[in-house]
Amino acid sequence: MPVATAGPSALWYLTRATGAVTLVLLTASVVIGVANIGRVQAAGWPRFVVEGVHRNVSLLAIVVLAIHIATSVLDPFAGVHVIDAIVPFTGSYRPLWLGLGAFASDLLLAIAITSLVRRHLGHGVWRATHWLAYLCWPVAVLHTVGTGSDVKQVWLLALTAACAVAVIVAVWARLGLGWPARRGLRGTAFAASLALPAALVVWLPSGPLGTDWAKRAGSSRSTSRSRSRALPCPRWHSRSWASSRPAAACG
Ligand code: HEM
Repeated sequence: MPVATAGPSALWYLTRATGAVTLVLLTASVVIGVANIGRVQAAGWPRFVVEGVHRNVSLLAIVVLAIHIATSVLDPFAGVHVIDAIVPFTGSYRPLWLGLGAFASDLLLAIAITSLVRRHLGHGVWRATHWLAYLCWPVAVLHTVGTGSDVKQVWLLALTAACAVAVIVAVWARLGLGWPARRGLRGTAFAASLALPAALVVWLPSGPLGTDWAKRAGSSRSTSRSRSRALPCPRWHSRSWASSRPAAACG
């Protein structure tokens, strides 16, 4: 087994760690938000407490996301620029998958800003923007599996699956409790909550879990360019969490 004589940069560890934490916080925010509109109340958890937790978890998600973006931009390995984090699909490193991260982060920002100025907006505008959370979360999941170099690691797959189960259960609970007048919408939401995860599970083996994903995702050119300025590849190579640089970077 190759021995790592020099490890990946601290920035890279931080990008991966903060990415995972952002996904967990985003999931928690969506689940608590859904519980809140479903008027779910447990003993000792009045609505204003649930609302406060939802707001604080969402703000924490934005803070951790900011660190995730900063570290990925500062780490020279992938050549991610600030503009790539703001304008989706403009970067050269895994453009589609990184672009989805930028899109999710733009949506999250729009949701947060409209919530902060909610009093000055009509309820309809705020509500319509807040519904974007249902788009933001699956887009962030696609970014995770498409960009994350830990996608083949059991821990990231298990974490993503746990987040998906939490959101699906929350949505089902919401569908069970509300919208009695909107049967069509409820049916569509229910069908989507089954079809989208099923599509992901079917696609994963030939996509991010398949061979050559790093190359197919669009990281080989950028990473090999950066790599020539960084450490020789065998140093990165290992199946451990500590040094799982994208394999295609060394291919
Ligand atoms: C809501 C938005 C986002 C979420 C929830 C999120 C979450 C994640 C997660 C879970 C990973 C996988 C980490 C791993 O493999 O261990 C990841 C990877 C990554 N993300 Fe994000 N991300 C978001 C937005 C962004 C944005 C806007 C950027 C742009 C700069 C970005 C840059 C990256 C990069 C470069 C990686 C690959 C790190 C690696 O080499 O594994 N992310 N992200």
